[in-house]
Amino acid sequence: MTQPGLYPVPAAAEARCLIDNEAYQRMYQQSVQDPQSFWAEHGKRIDWFTPYTKVKNTSYQPGNINIKWFEDGVLNASYNCLDRHLPHKANDIAYYWEGDEPGVQKNVTYQELYEQVCQLANGMKSLGVGKGDRVTIYLPMIPEAVISILACARIGAVHSVVFAGFSPDALGSRVQDCDSKLIITADQAPRGSRLTALKDNTDLALGHLGKNSPVQHVIVVKHVGENVDEHPGRDVWYHELLAKQPKSCEPEPMNAEDPLFILYTSGSTGKPKGVLHTTGGYMVWASMTHQYVFDYHPGDIYWCAADVGWVTGHTYIVYGPLANGACSVLFEGVPTYPSVKRMAQIIDKYQVNILYTAPTAIRALMAHGDTPVEGSKLNSLRTLGSVGEPINPEAWGWYHEKFGHGNCPIVDTWWQTETGGILITPLPGATALKPGSATRPFFGVKPAIVDNDGKLQEGKAEGNLVILDSWPGQMRTVFGDHERFEQTYFSTYQGTYFTGDGARRDEDGYYWLTGRVDDVLNISGHRLGTAEIESCLVAHDAIAEAAVVGYPHDIKGQGIYVYVTPRVGVDPSEELTKAVRAWVRQEISPIASPDIIQWAPQGLPKTRSGKIMRRILRKIAANEHDQLGDISTLADPSVVDQLIENRLNRS
Ligand code: WTA
Repeated sequence: MTQPGLYPVPAAAEARCLIDNEAYQRMYQQSVQDPQSFWAEHGKRIDWFTPYTKVKNTSYQPGNINIKWFEDGVLNASYNCLDRHLPHKANDIAYYWEGDEPGVQKNVTYQELYEQVCQLANGMKSLGVGKGDRVTIYLPMIPEAVISILACARIGAVHSVVFAGFSPDALGSRVQDCDSKLIITADQAPRGSRLTALKDNTDLALGHLGKNSPVQHVIVVKHVGENVDEHPGRDVWYHELLAKQPKSCEPEPMNAEDPLFILYTSGSTGKPKGVLHTTGGYMVWASMTHQYVFDYHPGDIYWCAADVGWVTGHTYIVYGPLANGACSVLFEGVPTYPSVKRMAQIIDKYQVNILYTAPTAIRALMAHGDTPVEGSKLNSLRTLGSVGEPINPEAWGWYHEKFGHGNCPIVDTWWQTETGGILITPLPGATALKPGSATRPFFGVKPAIVDNDGKLQEGKAEGNLVILDSWPGQMRTVFGDHERFEQTYFSTYQGTYFTGDGARRDEDGYYWLTGRVDDVLNISGHRLGTAEIESCLVAHDAIAEAAVVGYPHDIKGQGIYVYVTPRVGVDPSEELTKAVRAWVRQEISPIASPDIIQWAPQGLPKTRSGKIMRRILRKIAANEHDQLGDISTLADPSVVDQLIENRLNRS
């Protein structure tokens, strides 16, 4: 090692990888100096029915926010993921599907995937779904989830995948927001041996929407085989629908800027927003980042252990790998079931070369010492990836050594639902690594750091992370609320895209992500808005007021700390605390379950103008009451002492 904490590119990685450091530097410079010709060239990695003649037409200028890429090109995403590979790859495996229970498995070839996508696409058409219609997908991690996504893309319907862990209400509000005509779901979803009743949840969601429900049909995959209620005329069994359909379906020609999907994600305020991605630029970005960041070569076995319900699943389980004709593992379960050895066992079983997972999974395994890797060889692995939150150096070291045997580069990839794909990341053959740093920008990405006044910082600096220019995979709007799009991302630091993240740039120009600077929580790599949880809490009968903050958590990265003021006449008790926790799980999702609930009968710390001072609540939650800072602007500073006392009593 030349410098403590610096991991140079292993010689073997440099020799085998597509891009070495010299190539990275050269291509990066070209990509930012002459984006038009750079992307004119790289856009060709996608097959176009009508080639583009225009490449980049973008502006971040206030009053003229405009993002268009390849705007006169015509293509189809499912064609790029399927048809174009068939001549030479029909019998190649697209997915090794590994079920929740060990031993439950299925291989899906490109030909099989193609045929089922076409059948479902035809089936959806027979139900009256067409170009531009929205379809909600609420499925476990089974091949039908990928098939549903691609079937939508094939006919130009816009998919909105809702994570199968979300509650009926969360599902219902997402269905309503984007006016979905169709839901595709399954009877049940097993995960770590626990079953989620997806069809019952769907019925409940639609029941709550009542007459306002835009949904005309529900397609149900028989996965577990349980009996479910059937709503005649509305519900259709997936297998019955497909059985009647031809195995080919012409792909709908889509303009590059036609919508491909909506994915709901939490912001700092209000309800979750429907992040909208379009077709051309997104496909170029997904396939290019997948190839270069993971150094994917034909024949490699690749495993992204995310869920299709999140953007990581969209880009790095479905669109990126399939656009590149890759062979992936698709895993239904969790890393710790039936034992903490499951991940390593799957890697050996399928001889996985590239593994992409989240720090929270690594920390959960790391807590068991060497047990997770005992009995496994893990000698097929070549490249490791991390995504979703900052990876702490301890977890990085454990991952590097126990999974990577000390010689697999770790690509710590920073990106967001909004960015469509990876923006800041090492490349395995090009970048010397520093544990905890996402390192350098991908081609075409111009990150910068600004202070709170928006002043650009040069050299070594810390502040707010912004991106100065557009890249092809960028989101185009918030579905149904373009003003919110401009407001959220382009008004804070004018002329730039604001990420909502804080970052530090070191003397080598490496970026270190320091976490969100807004009220978005990152719980086990899942994004949750504090406002969302608070509005759920105050909807509970016993609660008058609530404030939610994050606090450091060993496994989840961040935990959810809730301060609640009971309504007059309500006495907080253990039981009530349990009921409040169950309420949040039921109303939003188990992932939003509060870790700590502290009752604050005396009220919450507020400024004289009535604004809750979260800064103080964060410090108390983190047990840092000696660093409260200035509390003189509080209306009633004694509230703080009481909160600290209660906090101390519990720890
Ligand atoms: C955080 C997930 C540090 C960040 C792809 C971002 C990260 C948010 C990293 C987006 C990383 C993601 N290092 N932080 N490598 N990757 N984040 O939309 O705060 O679910 O803004 O997209 O996760 O979360 P999202």
